[in-house]
Amino acid sequence: MTYQLSSYDEHHPEAYWSAVAAEFEVDRTLINLNNGGVSSSPRVVVEAMFRYWQEANRTPAHVLWNIQQPQREQVRGELAAWLGVDIEEIAMTRNASEGLQACLFGLPLSHGDEILTTDQDYPRMMWTLQQRERRDGIIVRTIPIPIPCYQLSQITDRFAAAITPRTRMILISHVMFMTGQIIPVREIAALGRKHDIPVIVDGSHALAHLDFRLADLDCEFYAAPLHKWLCAPHGTGMLYVRRERIADVWPLTAAPAEKDRDIRKFEEIGTHPEAPCLAISPALALHLAIGQARKQARLLELRHRWALPLAQLEQVRMHTSLEPGAAAGIATFEIVDQDPEKICNMLREHHRIHVVPITHPAFRGIRVTPQIYTSLEAVDHFVEVMLGLVSRL
Ligand SMILES: Cc1ncc(COP(=O)(O)O)c(C=O)c1O
Repeated sequence: MTYQLSSYDEHHPEAYWSAVAAEFEVDRTLINLNNGGVSSSPRVVVEAMFRYWQEANRTPAHVLWNIQQPQREQVRGELAAWLGVDIEEIAMTRNASEGLQACLFGLPLSHGDEILTTDQDYPRMMWTLQQRERRDGIIVRTIPIPIPCYQLSQITDRFAAAITPRTRMILISHVMFMTGQIIPVREIAALGRKHDIPVIVDGSHALAHLDFRLADLDCEFYAAPLHKWLCAPHGTGMLYVRRERIADVWPLTAAPAEKDRDIRKFEEIGTHPEAPCLAISPALALHLAIGQARKQARLLELRHRWALPLAQLEQVRMHTSLEPGAAAGIATFEIVDQDPEKICNMLREHHRIHVVPITHPAFRGIRVTPQIYTSLEAVDHFVEVMLGLVSRL
């Protein structure tokens, strides 16, 4: 589908972004700056979900399996065209975890094999690897990522130095969920290829956020949720596996042998609603109507709008580099000697502002993630509240 949006007028950008925001029915009595957790969807997506659900409910076995399931192919094609990859390389999953776990559990590893990842990858992915440690006797090695990191090549160098003859897999995020730090995925994927090590990329905060084409990363395994930055229905995600590698990965739930080389084996999950998957289409249409470059620029603009004034404060420490190209529209800051959790609770209870505390052995802070429906006024209000709060410390 194509999305009808008012055209962008560079002299009146806020009129455009207000029109985008009006596509979303969100609770405007609060300021939601935790869109990195999960996002609202635009009205057309919610309506499409409801329509598909209602349609399936009328004659479930017939509509689900004879009508809606074949319609998944249309969505697969749209996702593949957007990402610049082959339609036979895209599976639609229920979230990022499902796609990532298919790779992390599904690639063969033996006792003593090593997996490299970072000290800031997502907890569920770490639990997945740790479960394999307990179950299969593999060894997980984590590489510390500088906070903030100003030079992306430092990260590639650390991975290059950590590879040993026993390294059999690498897991990296494209954008770190804790700080918005960008990871040089293309370089690390090339490093993996050079050493014949599969590199699994967690694209949770990069897909539909950063302006890139999956095809250009030249990686073999990439999974992401679609309910974060694409604003697709909750319970949607995608998994890309390069065609030649599909047969190497066992799916999480068993599929018939004829599907060993078919990307659809990752969708053999038993009875499930098709409505969320089919309603990815209007979410993608909105994303394409806005345009990836414009969306990334807006998310960075929103980040700058709050992060620059806060970064000036003596009591504030930024854990995200604000240098061009270093991070996405997500950023994390700390108020020195203040418990981030207490501040987040206070912001929610007294100011109806939602942000999230981040804790890590090396740092802690407050993560702020606006979305395309966040207004400049909302961001300015957050800044005003924070300036007042810091001045009273
Ligand atoms: C970096 C990262 N990876 C994986 C996930 C898990 O995503 P999902 O809940 O869609 O499985 C998240 C969710 O916040 C995340 O931030």
